[in-house]
This record gives sequence, C-alpha cells and structure tokens, in this order.
Amino acid sequence: MDFNLGEEHLAVREAAADFARNELLPGIIERDNAQHFDAALISKMGELGFLGMMVSPEYGGGGMDTLAYVIAMEEIARIDASAAVMMSVNNSLVCWGLEKYGSEWQKQKYLVPLASGKMIGAFCLSEPEAGSDATSQQTTAVEAGDCYILNGTKNWITNGNTSSICLVMAQTDPDKKHKGINAFLVEKGLEGFVVGKKEDKMGIRASDTHTLMFSDVKVPKENRIGEDGSGFRFAMSTLNGGRIGIAAQALGIAAGALDLSLKYARERKTFGKPISEHQAIQFKLSEMATKTEAARLLVYKAAKLKDEGKDYVMAAAMAKLYASDAAMWVTTEAVQIHGGYGYVKEYHVERFMRDAKITQIYEGTSEIQKLVIARELLK
Ligand code: CAA
Ligand code: FAD
Repeated sequence: MDFNLGEEHLAVREAAADFARNELLPGIIERDNAQHFDAALISKMGELGFLGMMVSPEYGGGGMDTLAYVIAMEEIARIDASAAVMMSVNNSLVCWGLEKYGSEWQKQKYLVPLASGKMIGAFCLSEPEAGSDATSQQTTAVEAGDCYILNGTKNWITNGNTSSICLVMAQTDPDKKHKGINAFLVEKGLEGFVVGKKEDKMGIRASDTHTLMFSDVKVPKENRIGEDGSGFRFAMSTLNGGRIGIAAQALGIAAGALDLSLKYARERKTFGKPISEHQAIQFKLSEMATKTEAARLLVYKAAKLKDEGKDYVMAAAMAKLYASDAAMWVTTEAVQIHGGYGYVKEYHVERFMRDAKITQIYEGTSEIQKLVIARELLK
C-alpha cells in the first residue's frame, strides 16, 4: 500500500511534534500528579487546528485526511497521551460523527465551535452496566412533546468536565433493543444534568474522566442525531473511526517510550560500556522498534482505507488491537532498559507504561476488537 505522504502530512508532523515538545512536555509530570489538564493548552491546540483536523473548511475545520490526523495523534501521544485522548475524542468521535450524521442546524450550532476548540465534546456510550455490552443501554429518552426526557447515568466519560456538549446514547424503545437507541446532543447546563465524580486513574491522569448523571433532562427534539432508532448504528460507525485514533495514540506512546530508551541506552554505562553495547539491550531495542513500526503500518493502512472510502472496520480493529498491545509491551521494556531510574517519574517511561494500559481497554477492549475481527473474517 502506498501511503504517499505529501508535504501537508510532513508539515502536520512537524507542527504537532513542535507543539508537543515545546508546550506539552513542560509541566507534564506536574499535570499527571495533579490530574489536571491546562485549559490554556486546550485553547492552544484549538488555535493550531488540532481539534477539528478532519472537519470541512466550510465548518471551520482543517479539511485534512485521516492520515494527517493519525500523524498528528502519534506526535502528540509521543509526549502526552492525556492531551492525545482529549484530541481523539473531539476529532474522531464528536466532530466526525456530527459532520457525517448531524443536521445542518446541528453542524452550524455545534460543529463550528467544536472544530476550532471553542467547544470541547464528549462521547457518552458507556454505563455502569453497559461497557462492552453496549446494546444494553439503561439510560432512557422518553418522547414528550417537542423534547425527549433523559434519565440515567453514563460513566468513564473522557472530557466529562471539560466538555460543553455531549453526544449521549439512550434507549427510546426497549422493545426494539439496539434499534430503539437514539443519539442526542446534550448541552451542559441543562437542568438535571450533573457532572459526577472525577476518576482517580492509573494512567492518562491529566485527561478528565467523569460520571455524568441525567435526571429528567429535557433535550429538544432537534438535538437528536439522524432518524429515530439510528443511535446505535451511529455509535458503532463513529467508533470504527475512533478506534483508528486510539490506535494512533497507542502508536505514539510506543514511539515515545522507544525514543527515550534509545537515548538512555546510549548514555547509561555498565561494565565499562554503554548498555546499548550489550546485546541483550540491543535485542530489546530491535523488537521495540519492529513492533512500533508494525503498529504504524496498521494505523496508516486503516487511515488510508477510510480516506479512500473503502471498508475499514476490520483494519481499524486490527490497528487498535495490535498497536495497544505493542504500546504495553514496548513501554514495559522501556522501564526495564531504564532499570531503577525507569521506575521513578522523572524519567517519563513509567508514565508511558501506565498510559499504555488504557489503550487496551477503551473504545472497545482488546477482546472486543478480536470479536469484531472474527465477525468480519467469518461473515
Ligand atoms: N460497525 C458498524 N456497525 C456495527 C459494528 C461496527 N463495528 N458492530 C456492530 N454493528 C452493528 C451491527 O451491524 C448491528 O446492526 P443491525 O442490527 O442494524 O445489523 C448492531 O450494530 C448490533 O450489532 P451486534 O448484533 O453485533 O451486537 P452485539 O451486542 O453482539 O455486539 C459489539 C456489539 C461489537 C460488541 C458492540 O457492543 C461494541 O463495539 N462494544 C464495545 C463498546 C465500545 O467500543 N465502547 C467504547 C465507548 S467510547 C470510548 O471508550 C471513548 C474513549 O475511551 C476515549
Ligand atoms: P466490561 O465490558 O465489563 O468487560 C470486562 C472484561 O470482560 C474485559 O476484559 C472485556 O474485554 C471482557 N469481555 C466482556 N465481554 C466479552 C465478550 N463478549 N467476550 C470476551 N471478553 C469479554 N466510554 C465512553 O462511552 N466514553 C468515553 O469517553 C470513555 N472514556 C473512557 C476513559 C477511561 C479512562 C476508561 C477507563 C474508560 C472509558 N470509557 C468510555 C469506557 C470504556 O469504553 C469501557 O470501559 C470499555 O468499553 C469496557 O467496558 P467495561 O469497563 O464495562 O468492561
């Protein structure tokens, strides 16, 4: 497959790498400790165009392809996986879903500010009793005149507090099972919409993850996305692209841990020579580089298929499955190469190892990606 990286792709890579090194790296340990993502950094990412990269220029976006987006995601995650997940949710779940399936009115009202980062979005599918088993939605949306009344709880919501608009999946007609589910654009500040507790997480600690509660929240009918009952299809279709974004996040985490390991292996001396001259360390570096490159090829392939309008469901699931396992393996080896220094925060690799784990869990666990791949293989 010819990825045919053009000048635009190379410029995006350079801009994202510069931003990550100059703006995200300073203070990263403090943000991880404090579980805090700086609002000024989010604004800067918006100004630089990283929050609506694939949105058409007519809605204020960058009009770029998915390949450019995954290149930027890799560079951001290479330094800061928390910033990367915020970026991924806004770009590939919220903006992409809204541009593809939203009404013109919804796009003008929400997509335009989302594409510039003036608004941040959240994607709310998971519930306490509906994670992998996403069709078991317990949140209800009952029709009442010109609105729907929303009741229920969503948990683990990325950008839960930072967001001002939430894409919420809810069950309107339980008899129809997943065909009774709808997707709604729900604004923060509506009466009965409460942001619950912030999760105290192992990794991506600077990304805000919250429970959201809805108690008789009135959502105007014009805020429903698409036809009645199309919400589950909307969620699945959007997640296919989202998984490419998370695969790129995992790739960036692996690449970042490899960068630090190469540098450290050249500097650290034992038994009178740099550890990079011990074959055991060289073999680790070789395998780390090979897995990272293989992940990159799968991520690029999925992105390219999407850009060419071809079926990318299996490619996206394979990219996420492989890249997330690669990130976990590479970051664990990175800690090993750093020895005791790898176990403390100052050297950054322990954070990469903690951050890698979530990529095997969210936007469909590794087991769910295998299920998706098997269904595609066998159909
Ligand atoms: N693409 C398009 N449509 C899909 C699809 C896909 N990948 N997977 C399923 N569907 C469609 C099916 O075609 C079917 O539609 P029809 O009945 O109209 O044909 C419908 O969805 C139901 O599918 P299944 O019968 O296969 O349903 P299931 O219950 O057996 O399995 C599942 C579905 C694939 C396991 C799905 O529930 C799933 O993907 N679960 C994981 C949920 C997930 O990824 N959550 C992520 C939350 S967001 C997040 O995590 C963000 C973040 O962290 C940053
Ligand atoms: P479960 O579904 O209970 O799974 C438990 C275990 O069983 C897993 O290992 C799973 O793979 C396995 N399993 C389940 N079913 C099967 C099966 N059929 N076959 C084989 N194995 C199976 N969700 C959102 O909607 N929006 C967000 O923004 C969001 N952000 C998140 C951020 C973080 C930090 C976290 C931790 C989660 C986030 N999630 C979000 C939720 C995430 O998508 C779910 O946690 C994930 O889909 C798994 O669901 P679960 O936690 O309920 O696990």
